[in-house]
Amino acid sequence: MEKEKTIVINGSEFVFSDGETILEVAKRNGIDIPTLCYLKGASPTGSCRICVVEVEGARNLVASCAAPAAPNMVVRTESPRVVKARRMNLELLLSSGHHNCLAQDLDMDSWSDFQLQAMEPEEHRELCPAYGDCRLQELAIEYQVKGNLFPPAETHYPIENVNPFFVRDFSRCILCGRCVQACNEIQVNNAISHGYRGSESKIVAKGDLALKDSDCVFCGQCVQACPVGALYPRDQVPDFFSPIEVKKVRTTCSYCGVGCQLYLHVADNRVVRVTGVEDVGPNYGRLCVKGRFAYDFLEHPDRLKTPLIRENDTFREATWDEALDLVARRLNEIKEESGPDSIGVFTSARLTNEENYLAQKMTRAAIGTNNVDHCARL
Ligand code: FES
Repeated sequence: MEKEKTIVINGSEFVFSDGETILEVAKRNGIDIPTLCYLKGASPTGSCRICVVEVEGARNLVASCAAPAAPNMVVRTESPRVVKARRMNLELLLSSGHHNCLAQDLDMDSWSDFQLQAMEPEEHRELCPAYGDCRLQELAIEYQVKGNLFPPAETHYPIENVNPFFVRDFSRCILCGRCVQACNEIQVNNAISHGYRGSESKIVAKGDLALKDSDCVFCGQCVQACPVGALYPRDQVPDFFSPIEVKKVRTTCSYCGVGCQLYLHVADNRVVRVTGVEDVGPNYGRLCVKGRFAYDFLEHPDRLKTPLIRENDTFREATWDEALDLVARRLNEIKEESGPDSIGVFTSARLTNEENYLAQKMTRAAIGTNNVDHCARL
């Protein structure tokens, strides 16, 4: 029998299987290695170098998200050299654009004061829209990095807010590439890629067009993957809420029968954002444009809240009992007059399988016809 392959991380020995990265072995065994550009389910790019670790015998630090574990490898995840490198990488990322984040004003001797200040709603209105929900900010606080070691880089690209769903603010983009991975490898839409070079680098769509003129289908997976404030939902703009004001409520998307799992982000008794639930089926974090962005109907003044009955070409509001009685009576009358095959029933992809089953059962057993079909075949 082949001997199990092992790796040593922070002095403890762990078994690994072929193809596993150092990061995966560490995570599986409860060892936290910070990541920023790493996106579960996509191939690693190794671009942010926050996940670097020290490997005995290697001259340079190694990006653990991209380095496969090897037999007898000896790894240190929090050595002084590693921490120093992470801090420098964070300094560089924070100075790479416009990150107006309280982390930069932070007096490191009063960490808890900063936390308390950051939780005050009036303190963050003028800040980055990802404030309080930003992986870069989290890491800056964890590693006590202010981002003021280097002058901030200027960005030449204007904010793109010409589509109805989300905003692209290139000045906050750290070019981690997670949006590109989410688009190309998670959703397989292939709408965006890395463009230009050096300080001009930018995430582009189809030769640098606005997203609305590109192949983008606005699923918003890139927005969910963005670890900073470079991509954010438009609806979020007028009211920013701090993380403690937002409650996440898990539910099932009602737009079709797939049953995608999503989180409603609720603040002030309103839904302010929707994200996919990672790590559970059937969607594993993926959502379509409707599931992610089309929730404004919830509070729309035109939303139907009661059944309507048509009388003389106008509609009047009715109770459910009244509406159901009317439908039952008319179906019976039509069946009496013209026979059951004069009635046909269309069900909907928006219903659950169980509801579709019941609709065909009622059509066949109660009405007495096989004239039943589904909107997917129209
Ligand atoms: Fe590994 Fe970015 S998380 S390089």
